Amino acid sequence: MFMYARVPAGTKLPTYDSTPHPAMASSGTTEIIDIRPGPTEFDILQDIKKGLRPANGGEKTLPTLLLYDETGLRLFEKITYLEEYYLTNAEIEVLEKYADDIAERVKPGSIVLELGSGNLRKVNILLQAIERAGKDVDYYAVDLSLPELKRTFSEIPTAGYKHVRCFGLYGTYDHALEWLKSSKVHEKPKTILWLGSSLGNFKRHEVPPFLAGFRDAINPGDNMLIGIDSCKDADRVYHAYNDKDDVTHQFILNGLKHANRIMDDDSAFKLDEWEAIGEFDEQAGRHHAFVSPLKDVVVDGVSIPQGERIRIEESYKYSRDEVLRLWHEAGLVENTIFGTSLGNYGLHLVAKPPFYFSSYPEQYAAKPVPSLADWQQLWAAWDAVTRTMIPEDELLAKPIKLRNVCIFYLGHIPTFLDMHITRATDGSPTEPAYFTKIFERGIDPDVENPEKCHTHSEIPEIWPALEDILKFQERVRQRVHELYTSASTDSNPRVARALWLVFEHETMHLETLLYMLIQSEKVVPPPGTPTPDFAAQAHQSEALAVENQWFHIPEANITLGLEDPEDAASTNHYFGWDNEKPPRSAHVTGFQAKARPITNGEYAEYLIKTGKTAIPASWSDRPYDAQSIEQASKRDSVMNGANGHSNGVNGSIQNIIHGKYVRTVFGAIPLRYALNWSVVASYDEIAGCAQWMGGRIPTLEEVRSIYSYVEREKSKEFAKTLGKTIPAVNSHLLNDGVEESPPSGPFLNGNSGVSSSPDPHSIFASLEGVNVGFQHWHPVSVAEKGKQLCGQSDLGGMWEWTSTTLEKQDGFEPMSLYPGYTGSSSPPMPIRVLTAPADFFDGKHNVVLGGSWATHPRIAGRKTFVNWYQRNYPYVWAGARIVRDE
Ligand SMILES: C[S@@+](CC[C@H](N)C(=O)[O-])C[C@H]1O[C@@H](n2cnc3c(N)ncnc32)[C@H](O)[C@@H]1O
Repeated sequence: MFMYARVPAGTKLPTYDSTPHPAMASSGTTEIIDIRPGPTEFDILQDIKKGLRPANGGEKTLPTLLLYDETGLRLFEKITYLEEYYLTNAEIEVLEKYADDIAERVKPGSIVLELGSGNLRKVNILLQAIERAGKDVDYYAVDLSLPELKRTFSEIPTAGYKHVRCFGLYGTYDHALEWLKSSKVHEKPKTILWLGSSLGNFKRHEVPPFLAGFRDAINPGDNMLIGIDSCKDADRVYHAYNDKDDVTHQFILNGLKHANRIMDDDSAFKLDEWEAIGEFDEQAGRHHAFVSPLKDVVVDGVSIPQGERIRIEESYKYSRDEVLRLWHEAGLVENTIFGTSLGNYGLHLVAKPPFYFSSYPEQYAAKPVPSLADWQQLWAAWDAVTRTMIPEDELLAKPIKLRNVCIFYLGHIPTFLDMHITRATDGSPTEPAYFTKIFERGIDPDVENPEKCHTHSEIPEIWPALEDILKFQERVRQRVHELYTSASTDSNPRVARALWLVFEHETMHLETLLYMLIQSEKVVPPPGTPTPDFAAQAHQSEALAVENQWFHIPEANITLGLEDPEDAASTNHYFGWDNEKPPRSAHVTGFQAKARPITNGEYAEYLIKTGKTAIPASWSDRPYDAQSIEQASKRDSVMNGANGHSNGVNGSIQNIIHGKYVRTVFGAIPLRYALNWSVVASYDEIAGCAQWMGGRIPTLEEVRSIYSYVEREKSKEFAKTLGKTIPAVNSHLLNDGVEESPPSGPFLNGNSGVSSSPDPHSIFASLEGVNVGFQHWHPVSVAEKGKQLCGQSDLGGMWEWTSTTLEKQDGFEPMSLYPGYTGSSSPPMPIRVLTAPADFFDGKHNVVLGGSWATHPRIAGRKTFVNWYQRNYPYVWAGARIVRDE
């Protein structure tokens, strides 16, 4: 029931340097600051005129903003006290119950900024809790109604607050966004409040870019607390907006009076000729309100026949899936939900993650060469892992004994980057040039014979100081910046290819480093990411678990690989590694495949039943994080109590589960919470289990055939849902394919709109809803996927083992830029030396496909990407599903 007004695009905004801004008013002791670019009124008149004359005979609309003049705001306040209007009461219930918990998450010295604050009686519950917590916080209420700001501040006891300083900001959401970016404000920790399910007044596709704007204006670790109505009970929603006392209808009709004032014509809308109509549109999950004339009328020269509906307000409701998609599209992570006892209204605490990778090809691989923004996200990820997840004293440790010490990788990444830029630009290496000697190539052991490792850079007696490595890294990154600003990235194919190569090389190392770190008991959890509630997740996945079905995969001709001539003079095609080229086709006969991969639970059963005792390297015999132990014992008592959760496994399996843990970046968590995750094990281990289960691991061609079958089926489904004119872009539907009236307009998701040639969808898959690219910092359950065949990268955060040995394909040619790529142990692997011949074709490596939770979307989504590991390599995050012949 809230409104939304955007300042027209292109409106000039002032540059805000820092507070204090000139106070333009005060309410009691509260300063109210004008953050508008100028004293102009918001241009509703244009919106009224435009809305009455829709293009292409579309639906007429009036701006929702009309509802909120002074009378409207009073009427709205009355609505919030109505019994039927459950939203305010729900939010009050949540605030009263959780205000102290919320206050605990507000950092001292921070700014709490509330968007569209309206009446402050609700937020005051939180302000009081912050007072109780003794935290010095500056609260800023943003509203475009100055009288409302003055009136409501005078109604709450701000003068008595010792810790919370209150301010009003007179302006729109957009002005508040600019204000947030001002220097002094920018540095402070922030919590943004957006209460009252106000996001429901935006069209669904408008919310992610709106939130992304605020995400960009805050810092990693800052929070947003967003009220969302998830009630889809048609009756309840209808009555909330169509109360028996008719207050809401008066509120809607008051919008017409406001319009008359703005149009400077008291009789433009004659009130007695109009009625308000409310309707719950179940399909789109929204309530919408209209004004409609009781007889034929003419307004501002526009004829409106009796009964025509003019939309004035919408209130979208969000299911759990819609909420999750929203966070994903907005690049936010949900930390927790403070919900009502009925669970249909929640205050969602979301945070800006330290970095964010999109799931959509048009965003994650908009062009063959990664953009500077792509680099910045990757660097943020690299820094998050290297600078915060490895304790300083562990930098010289080797979490995987046969590999290099951690600090090697910190030097290796910028060195490799620098070497390739130097080569592509015929430039000189960044100093200190001797880094090339020690950081070019890592140790890459043969698992069977550790003595026999591939050529690697010399190991210095003393590694350079961390500080020097970081300074070097900074200089090399600066070099990348300069390449982008000089436009060499587009015009010079050598530079373009080099940048692509080093980018993907870094993404692969990011994952390698993480799977190394996870073997260390000292890994520090990722920054700004609270430890997930693994027990609750396990409980939920158990409730949703379904039988793992066999699917028939029809005979098919599939294409493997891509066209990417290395000497091409343009950069107008996607690049691929040596083993992805040239394109070739394969005929795959029909076979059967299980929907989802083998789980930890199934693997545990296999161990028991076959009397095996060796556990995979992804498990541990002991917990090694105090927090997990504590949580585990707490959770046990809950789970053995009323819920009686036992993961449906029998007694003997309980025995092996007991005392076993699964390694995560949050520490080792009890295996019983990860029973429904895909098992991570070496090919040799998992092949034994597959055989025991009555199947085999599919070949590379079979796995590709599964992926393309899933894609074809999805497109068919999509085409079916598509119907008439549902807004959709590149196989993702807006509004879940529910047609809206009027149509939502162009797709406005996040930073899309990037025009790119070639078409990213030709090579890259949509990763929507798939656990790759750090959607989660851990695997997720696959038990609920038993009825839907898992496609590319959809194994709950694991690569997929194939039974195919890595071999030179016909037409294989080593890349001149990197001749040793497919040739020297497990990728990306402590790098393949620039000049070494390929040597991974030793018959010991098997192909893995897809991607893990830590795989960059450019790799996880590329339909031609090939990865490989030694069959007995135990650390790679790969699982497997079984197939059988027909
Ligand atoms: C109906 S109220 C909601 C008030 C409060 N957040 C709540 O949950 O009760 C919507 C408030 O947002 C303000 N508002 C609406 N659109 C706005 C915009 N674009 N910029 C600033 N304030 C806006 C209105 O003036 C109004 O006070």
